[in-house]
Amino acid sequence: MTSYAVSAPAKINLHLEVLGRRSDGYHELRTLFISIDLADRLRASRSENGVTTLHIDPEGRLSPDEDNLIIKAAELLRRNTGSRAGANIFLNKNIPVGAGLGGGSSDAAAALVLLDKVWGLGLDNHDLMQMAAALGSDVPFFLHGGLAEGRGRGDDIRPLPDLRSCHVVVVVPKIAVSTASVFASLPPSLSSEYPGVTPDRAPGPSIFGKDRGPSWHNYRNDLEAVVVTRWPEVGRVLASLRDSAAIHVAMTGSGSASFAVFENRQAALEVAAGLDDSWTVHVVSTLGRNQARMKVRPAARGEGVRSWK
Ligand code: C5P
Repeated sequence: MTSYAVSAPAKINLHLEVLGRRSDGYHELRTLFISIDLADRLRASRSENGVTTLHIDPEGRLSPDEDNLIIKAAELLRRNTGSRAGANIFLNKNIPVGAGLGGGSSDAAAALVLLDKVWGLGLDNHDLMQMAAALGSDVPFFLHGGLAEGRGRGDDIRPLPDLRSCHVVVVVPKIAVSTASVFASLPPSLSSEYPGVTPDRAPGPSIFGKDRGPSWHNYRNDLEAVVVTRWPEVGRVLASLRDSAAIHVAMTGSGSASFAVFENRQAALEVAAGLDDSWTVHVVSTLGRNQARMKVRPAARGEGVRSWK
């Protein structure tokens, strides 16, 4: 039975602006996603018994049951296509969980493209995007990758031209944050009813300068203050990073991770080496769209969850 594999890269939010609360309970956002080269890996083969199993390496960080977005993606595919096949899926988990790095969402997008191949469904981009949005607000971004603006719940994606690759220090304190609880504790001024202006006319700083390069000084994360109040450790991470000569420092998504952007890899490595060793630190690079695109390939002979360690 042929096994296929795909890489599922993480993201950071260079900018995240909350425009208001919507009548469906979600928040209207304007955000700027970029892929980074910290990735989970998925491998899957078809099983004929109709059962989908998920094995996660390392064990214990994440539940492999029906709450897992990979299992939800498999169920959604079966429901929407009538497929009766099953699959044995292996996940090599490298992206920290509950950190705002989009690991669960990237895994869900990867599961859609991987099972589309393993089950021979031949779905088009439109179908995959619709299923991605049903699985979570961030999932559609991962079907594009690279640099993209997200509107609506974050699921209305406009791909943008690649940036010159940057070096990023990602810092993860020992805190897992629930996105729903962060949105629920936004101050009323930020979460007041969305006024219904079309997103194109929504107020806000411009994301790009005249040269189409990033307007770093305009970027912010409107979820940062709420998270820092509840988890002061996130504030300590941000203060340490803001003490460096980074081009830009912010929390990503709803936290708990924060990041600092550098043009020079040596500077990123030096800052990373000086940080509190109770935090998990990754020095990564941003990815262009072609590098971040989820390409399903036949798994190498013997390639499996153990050999990925
Ligand atoms: O879409 P997803 O399941 O990832 O969102 C998790 C939770 O975060 C939602 O149930 C909602 O409470 C909150 N959320 C929000 N506005 C968004 C995205 C997420 O309020 N744009």
